[in-house]
Amino acid sequence: MSSKKYWSSRLGFYLAAVGSAVGLGNLWRFPYIVGENGGGAFVLLYLFFAVAVGLPLLIGELSLGKQARRPLLPALLKFRHPLLKTRSLPPRVIKGLGLLSLSVTGMILAYYAVVSGWVLHFSTQFLVGLFVDDWLTARSSFAPLMSNGALQISLASVHILALVVISLRGIQDGLEKWISRMMPVFGFLLFLLLIQALSLPSTSEALRFLFYPDFTKLTLSSPLHALGHVLFTLSLGIGAMVTFGSFLRESDQIPKAGYRVTFVDIVLSLVAGLLIFPLVFQGGGGAQLTDPGLLFETLPRFLIELRLGSLFGLMFFVCLYLSALSASLGLLEVILSHLMDAFKWTRAKACVVAGLLALALSVLPGLSSSVLKNVRFSGGSILESLDSLLIHWALPLIALGMSYFLAYQMPKNIKQEMFGESSSVENQIMYVKWEQSLKFSIPVIIGLCFLLKLLSYFF
Ligand code: TRP
Repeated sequence: MSSKKYWSSRLGFYLAAVGSAVGLGNLWRFPYIVGENGGGAFVLLYLFFAVAVGLPLLIGELSLGKQARRPLLPALLKFRHPLLKTRSLPPRVIKGLGLLSLSVTGMILAYYAVVSGWVLHFSTQFLVGLFVDDWLTARSSFAPLMSNGALQISLASVHILALVVISLRGIQDGLEKWISRMMPVFGFLLFLLLIQALSLPSTSEALRFLFYPDFTKLTLSSPLHALGHVLFTLSLGIGAMVTFGSFLRESDQIPKAGYRVTFVDIVLSLVAGLLIFPLVFQGGGGAQLTDPGLLFETLPRFLIELRLGSLFGLMFFVCLYLSALSASLGLLEVILSHLMDAFKWTRAKACVVAGLLALALSVLPGLSSSVLKNVRFSGGSILESLDSLLIHWALPLIALGMSYFLAYQMPKNIKQEMFGESSSVENQIMYVKWEQSLKFSIPVIIGLCFLLKLLSYFF
């Protein structure tokens, strides 16, 4: 664990939690999975799951961290319920759950590094475009990058190296300071671009697509896709929020922190949708709605048409890169906190080992659109299959285990404390609702999503 025990300010916590939640999940992944699942009805599902599943789990993970002051795995072991022997999960099962989530973290980090590399690529193209006329006309497309595996792996390596170097300086120096500087800039830039995008003639079509719920467009897989994305975008399941919660001060209120992080994350995803879909419907270079390249195929072409487009493009991709970096730092922090806690390694040693591991794991997804493009699992490339395995299967499974743990294993008095004064009726009601959702609605929703997905293989 980091030598500094608490966030230096409340803002520091929000910056790190929002910094880890807001990232490629919102700006890159959200638009294309909305496209893939038919638009408005899927957005509604996503919003419903964010409130019904994401928020209670987020509150739960933060509580767990704040109480245990340890990363996920030791926190789980600490709170095995001593009195309810019959319901108590054996340590082996808890360790298994923790290790599963740790390997999932490593794989997400690696796959995330590949996509962060794509963002890095566009940042450099726009940087050169600022100085060299006509540079961008030929280089703003996505295809050349996709067919160049060596370039993708090099970019992912640069990203991982940057992560390790920043992380070596410790969580607060690494995260708090510079995220706080870049967030307002990114917010303003998104606002400007949004105005531009929403003044295109295709806006009404885009709004209809995003917000008019046509339930016939949903498939049996859509609920699981929405659920997985909620877990991914809120950085749940793998213990990131447990780690962040472990640095919270005694006086910090957890439910409030949970609402705020969820709210900001949802708003940013919707902004991304509002930005991308007018461009897609405007023609956006024939981008396919369902393609993981959606953001990269539409936005650069739009940007180069704008006045000062290279500058806007450079700023946008640098900010997007920084938000990918801060999310990746959150992922790395989960791994580091475990390595340091379990093996008593120094931060430096843990950083180097985790960095090398991430590098090795990024090779396959990095080559998935070039050398290995013919290796496909049920129609998807290695990167898409990894995405699906991690986000549609592993995260909901871990979330199921986590909700069971929070509902039945964590002592009630500790949980109740999180909701503040127990004499207040309002807090009591909130607590009861929270516990009920962990005990009933979350397991039922996750179970149903899995069931529908399994049915999709037969129908
Ligand atoms: N939420 C991040 C995003 O939307 C990705 C992510 C998933 C993450 N799990 C995480 C980030 C854990 C930090 C820690 O891009």
